[in-house]
Amino acid sequence: MEELIGIKKRTAIFISGNGSNMKNLIKYSKKKYSLINVDLVISSNKKSNAIRYLKKNKIDFKIFDFKQKNKDERKIFNILKKREIQLICLAGFMKILSKSFIKRFNGKILNIHPSLLPKYKGLNTHERAILNKEKFSGCTVHFVNSKLDSGKIIIQKKVKINKKDNPKSLSKKILKQEHLLYPKALKEILSRT
Ligand code: GAR
Repeated sequence: MEELIGIKKRTAIFISGNGSNMKNLIKYSKKKYSLINVDLVISSNKKSNAIRYLKKNKIDFKIFDFKQKNKDERKIFNILKKREIQLICLAGFMKILSKSFIKRFNGKILNIHPSLLPKYKGLNTHERAILNKEKFSGCTVHFVNSKLDSGKIIIQKKVKINKKDNPKSLSKKILKQEHLLYPKALKEILSRT
C-alpha cells in the first residue's frame, strides 16, 4: 500500500464550472489503486459550487480569474512548480491556456471535452451536434497542445443521440460517461509510465 501511494502522480485539477468531473476525480484519487493524488485545484470561478466541496474535503485550492492571464499563469506556474505537480487535469476549465504555459508542462496536461473530437471543438458542442442531426455524440479525453481541443486523443466514449434529446438532456447523458472516462484515461496513460 505504501508503495502504491508513493507512485501516485501529484496532480492539479483546473475547473471553471460545477466541478462534477473534479469531484469524480477526487473520489477516484482516494481509491487505493488510483494513480493520482489531487494536491491542488485551480478555479477560474470564485462562485463555483465546487469551492464548498473543496473546503469540506480539505483540499487545497486557489482562485485565479484570468483577467490578467499572463500574470495569473506565471503565479500558477510557480505554485505548481513549488508543489512538484506532475500532472494537470483540465475538468470543465473554460479558459484557454497560453502556448508558453502548455509548453512548460508539455505532455502533462489532459482535458476532457464533451464531443467526439475532432468533431465539435470549442463551445456549444451539444447544440451543434443536435442541429447537425448527428446520431451519436460523446466525450473525449486528450492531451492538451497549443491548438484548441486538438491534442492527441487518449480515449473516447460514444453516446447515442435520441430524437427527443435536447442540449440539456444530451449534456446530462454525456457527463455521466465523462465521469467513467476520465479515470479510465488516467489508468491508460499512467499505468504505462
Ligand atoms: C463537462 O461536460 C466538460 O466536458 C466540459 O464542461 C463540462 C464541465 O462540467 N468541458 C468543456 O466544454 C471544455 N471545453 P463539470 O464542471 O461538472 O465537470
